Parts: sequence; C-alpha cells; structure tokens
Amino acid sequence: MPNYMQTYRKWQADPEAFWAVAAREIDWVEPASRVFDPGQGIYGRWFVGATCNTCWNCVDRHVASGRGDQTAVIHDSPVTGMKTSFTFTQVQAHVGALAHVLRAKGVTRGDRVIIYMPMVAEAIFAMLACARLGAVHSTVFGGFAAPELATRIDDARPKAIISASCGIERSRVIDYKALLDEALDLAVSSPDFCLILQRDAQVCDLTPGRDADYADLVGTALAQGHMAECVPVAATDPLYILYTSGTTGQPKGVVRDNGGHMVALKWSMRYHYGVEPGDVFWAASDIGWVVGHSYICYAPLLHGCTTVVYEGKPVGTPDAGAFWRVIQEHKVAALFAAPTAIRAVKKEDPDGHLVRRYDFSNFRTLFLAGERADTAVIEWAGRHIGRPVVNHWWQTETGWPMTGNPVGLGILPDKAGSTGVPMPGYDIRVLDDAGVQVAPGILGNIVCKLPLPPSSLPTLWNADDRFTNSYLSQFPGYYATSDAGVMDEDGYVHIMARTDDVINVAGHRLSTGAMEEVIASHPDVAECAVVGVADELKTELPLGLYVVRDGARTDTDQIEKELVALVRERIGAVAALRSAVKVDRLPKTRSGKILRGIIRAMANGEEWKVPAVIEDPAALPEINDALGARGMIRSATVSTD
Ligand code: COA
Ligand code: AMP
Repeated sequence: MPNYMQTYRKWQADPEAFWAVAAREIDWVEPASRVFDPGQGIYGRWFVGATCNTCWNCVDRHVASGRGDQTAVIHDSPVTGMKTSFTFTQVQAHVGALAHVLRAKGVTRGDRVIIYMPMVAEAIFAMLACARLGAVHSTVFGGFAAPELATRIDDARPKAIISASCGIERSRVIDYKALLDEALDLAVSSPDFCLILQRDAQVCDLTPGRDADYADLVGTALAQGHMAECVPVAATDPLYILYTSGTTGQPKGVVRDNGGHMVALKWSMRYHYGVEPGDVFWAASDIGWVVGHSYICYAPLLHGCTTVVYEGKPVGTPDAGAFWRVIQEHKVAALFAAPTAIRAVKKEDPDGHLVRRYDFSNFRTLFLAGERADTAVIEWAGRHIGRPVVNHWWQTETGWPMTGNPVGLGILPDKAGSTGVPMPGYDIRVLDDAGVQVAPGILGNIVCKLPLPPSSLPTLWNADDRFTNSYLSQFPGYYATSDAGVMDEDGYVHIMARTDDVINVAGHRLSTGAMEEVIASHPDVAECAVVGVADELKTELPLGLYVVRDGARTDTDQIEKELVALVRERIGAVAALRSAVKVDRLPKTRSGKILRGIIRAMANGEEWKVPAVIEDPAALPEINDALGARGMIRSATVSTD
C-alpha cells in the first residue's frame, strides 16, 4: 500500500495519469477521450468525451458482479420505531421502478427534479432514479421553510417534485406537504407533477391534477417488474444541483458532474476513509446537505458498501447512546458526524457511561467535518470510543475532502486543531489579501490552485459569471475557499474562520446575508446586521441587531418576537435566530460598510477597539451597552487607539 507522501507526489507529478488510474475503478460506457481538457468549461473539464451512468455504478454493477444479496441500504428510524434493509438487488428494483414511473410521466435526460424529503430510504431511491435517467436532481434540506424551497424551485425549474407527507423531528411532526404547497404558491415555476410518499405519522391530501401517490405508482411498477434502464450521459453532464448559502439571500446552485464525481468519491472511500466493499459506512448527516449526497448516497454505494440512512438525532431519540447503538447493531465500520452532534452526546453523557454499553468491535474510525472540531470533543470521543478520530475539511463546492487524514494510506500522526493534510488533487496555498503566499504558520486566505480536482464544481447552475466572481476573481489562478487559516511547516492545514457572511449553526451552513434580508423586510425595521456568535453546542448562533425606522411601533419586545418568527418562517427552524436587539445605529465605516466583525468580537467577549475608519464612534459603545444589558456579552475591553 503506498503511503500518503508517495501518493500525493505521484498526483503532483502527473495529475492526469493519477486520475486516469483512479478512473479504472468506474464502469464507463465510453472511456474519456481526454482525462482533463483545460480548454473546456471555465477552468477545464474532467473526463471529456466519456459516457457513463452514476446509478449503474452505484447499483446495477454490484448486482451484475454478484453483490446483489448484500445489504445496500439500512433505514434506521428511532423516531418511527422502524428498521428496514434493502439488498443491492432490491435497491435496483425500487430505483428502476421509480425511474420507470418518472419516465412514464415525461422525465428525461437533463430535466430537473426537486427532492424534498425526510431521511427515508425513498429519498436515496429518488436521487438514484434521477441519476438512472440522466435527470438532474436538486435535493432540498427538509429544515428549510417554504420560501427557501420556492427560491430553489424557481432557480432549478423542475419538471417534477418528489416529496413526502411529513417528516418526524424529536418533538413534532413536520408537515412537508403543507410546506410544499406553500412553496408552490410562492414560486413562479411549477412542476408538471409531484410524487408524494405518504407516511403513517401523518397522511396528507393529494392535490388533484398535480400530485400522485408514490406507493401506488412505484408499487404497481414494482409488482409488474418494470425497470427503466440506465441512460448513458456525458461524464460532464450534471448529476445534481445542490444549493448552498453564499453572501446574499440567493443561494448558489453548486453543479456536480457525473464522471469526475464518481472517480473522486470512489477514490476517497478506500484511501481517505479506509473502508472496503462490504463494510458498513454511516454518515450521520441529512440527505439535504453535501455530506448526505456524497457519503450517505453516492460514495458508499459506488464502493459496494452498505450505507445507513438514520432518521433520528444524536440525543433524545431516545438518548445519547443512539449513535453507539447504531454502530453496534449494524456493525458500522466508519462513522462520519458533525462535531456538534458529538458535543451534544458529550454534554448528556460526559463520562461515557452509555458508550460503554455498546460493542464497538466492528468500528474502526470516527470522522468529523462540517464545522470546527474543538480539541475537547476530539479528545473525549477518542478516549471513550478508543478509535482514531479524524478531523477533515471540505465544502459543498468540492463534494469530498480537501484536507484530511488518509486512513487507507496509513493514518498520519494527528495534530491538535488541524484538519489534516491536502488530499491528492488539491494544491492548497495560504495567501494574504494581496494574493502573496504567506509563510508557514501565518494566517491567511486558504485557496486551491486551479484546476480543481474531479468532483469539484465546474460552475454554478445557470450562473457562470457568479461562479467566476464568487470563487475565481479574488485570487487569479486560484479557487478561493472563503475560509481563513494556516498551513504549518509539515503541510497540515488549520481552518480558523470564514471570510464571508456564512455561519455554521449546528453543522448547517447558513447565510447571515439571507437573515438580514428577512429582518430588513419587516415594516418597522430601517436597517440591520446579523452576526454569528460562538455557542458551546451549536458552534455559532446568529444574533440580529436592528434599527427601527421613523414612526415605528415602540413595543420592542413585540418587534423582536416578530423578527425571530419571521426568520423561522422564511428560512427555517434551523436558522435558530434566538434574539434581535434594538440599537439606535449600526457601526459603519465612512464608506457605509457595517462593521460586523467588531460586533461579533464584542458579543463573543473578545477584545475590540473603535477603528479609525468609523463614521460614528459612539455607535460601538452603545451596542456594547445594549448587548450587556441583555446579558449577551461575557466581557469586553474598549480601546480607542
Ligand atoms: N426537517 C425539519 N425540521 C428540522 C430538520 C429537518 N430535517 N432538521 C432540524 N429541524 C428543526 C428542528 O426540529 C429544530 O426545530 P425547533 O426549533 O422547533 O426545535 C430546528 O430545526 C433546529 O434543529 P437542530 O439544528 O437539529 O437543533 P436541535 O436543537 O434540534 O438539535 C443537535 C441539536 C446538536 C442534536 C442537532 O443540531 C444535530 O444533530 N446536529 C448535527 C447536524 C448535522 O449532522 N449536520 C450535518 C452536517 S455534516
Ligand atoms: P458546507 O459547504 O456546508 O460543507 O460547509 C463548508 C464550510 O464548513 C467550510 O468552508 C468551512 O468553513 C466549514 N468546515 C467544514 N469542515 C470543517 C472543519 N473540519 N473544520 C473547520 N471548518 C470546517
């Protein structure tokens, strides 16, 4: 087995040869005429000229090669008390039947299909059925409110929507159908049809002429043995669009291709995650996030692993031993979780009593990503589980780890606070704001030298200019990650903070800009600012500050309640805006830029000072007093030099 350094150098020496070898792991209909063509797309395209089908590689090829009786998907749902398993042969039948239904209703290659579903096996089948037909899915996280869903419907203009009657959270049933109806009322674009999965917890009325019953149609197709064949698509064709938060309220539609995505994900399973076909791999995320796309759905199935679709929480369903129960019961080899989830478990079971109740003999590694993992949580998990805990870093845009610890290449010594070393494909640099590379250990902008490796986004959906402006313009020749951090002398990367208006709330990537747009739409608000404030459990929580307009109502308690409710209603409960504080003015530079960084430092109890460029020096101490009066600040030191 080659080690990390040999492998990384091999990639550096000849990236195309490296990815050509990795591509041998994939079944192609036609092989690529060029592994990488720098003349195509915005910064080049991978596997140009190749044709393939992602669903074939995830499902049919395993049936064809004798893996049909192996469990492919386990749905474990403590919130409903159900556990269901599907072999690769059964997944093939379900996916083929669903693809048959979609095709019969007119869905063909290139059409978009929105998937708005809870954590059920059918959500995976829906993604794979789209891939089977060459249709482009866009899976929307169930925790988003109707207006967010409507924005995505209008951007993707889907031919069909696949949804469910409800989702089940710890303490309540979420009426997905009502959210879907509201979104379709708000959206300009309308699908030809919706396919609705009825769930026992709450059955819904179907809208005549628009909705069809999932179980009726797919059940009939299954019973009649209908199975749509896999449609060959270009490797460069889009497999899916996944909307993610950016600086504005308009989410970015990250485009993922078929060929490069398969090659990189398959490589990552063996070499980064250190798992083999037949192992059970569990990503405790949600199919609405990139981790769910890559490591609940596609990568484990591409690699011939069993994947776990978990419909529950780390705590409260029923207790903080839930993760360990799933590991024992399903013989999980590797778990991928958000640090927040482990923090929630640690908080409820600090001494690890529940951990000791379960058998970890099949378990090898815990992977953490999605947000900053503090040393305390890594140390706690390592001590109680007795297995390596790997912190790694990536983004929706890349679809797989940019830095990590390649377990399959021989795990490297861990460095506290680090997210590991660059994976092959990523030439990571740290630049100052002028674009000059900084010395090891110095904080700067983390960038990746172009071209990006297979699986990374070639562009944003229908928004090439936005793609270039958002990622490629700031540092010509590099992809700007919008993360700040350092690389040390040994090449380990440490991610410190976002450089844009994105915050991370309980592992959910959210835009403060989007929240500001919602608050600013309130009739009593003249202007506002939202910043992410450190939180022990959820990493960050949004805090809103607002200034009322002339003639506004004076009942600030009521206005605050309305603002909190408005963010929940327009963006979703996951946004978790708990408070909005009225202030007389916002601190701005003379050119009108709101000094959000200082507000954040103030609320976090960090040292801050009044900068020379401020328009109105009294604004900051006033905010300090307003936050202090509400107990929203630990300590602060004002300095005016
Ligand atoms: N559909 C509908 N609503 C959802 C939802 C979904 N898929 N996911 C979350 N919500 C709702 C919750 O019900 C909650 O609503 P409430 O305010 O009415 O209680 C709200 O959104 C916030 O949810 P969440 O962020 O999950 O917080 P929580 O307090 O319920 O749970 C944790 C705290 C730490 C247990 C939880 O945040 C968690 O498991 N985090 C890990 C997330 C993760 O894995 N992210 C993947 C990134 S890789
Ligand atoms: P998402 O696109 O939702 O996966 O969020 C990506 C962002 O999450 C990154 O740009 C980082 O800001 C943050 N992130 C992901 N993984 C880590 C990590 N291991 N450590 C610190 N931040 C991380």
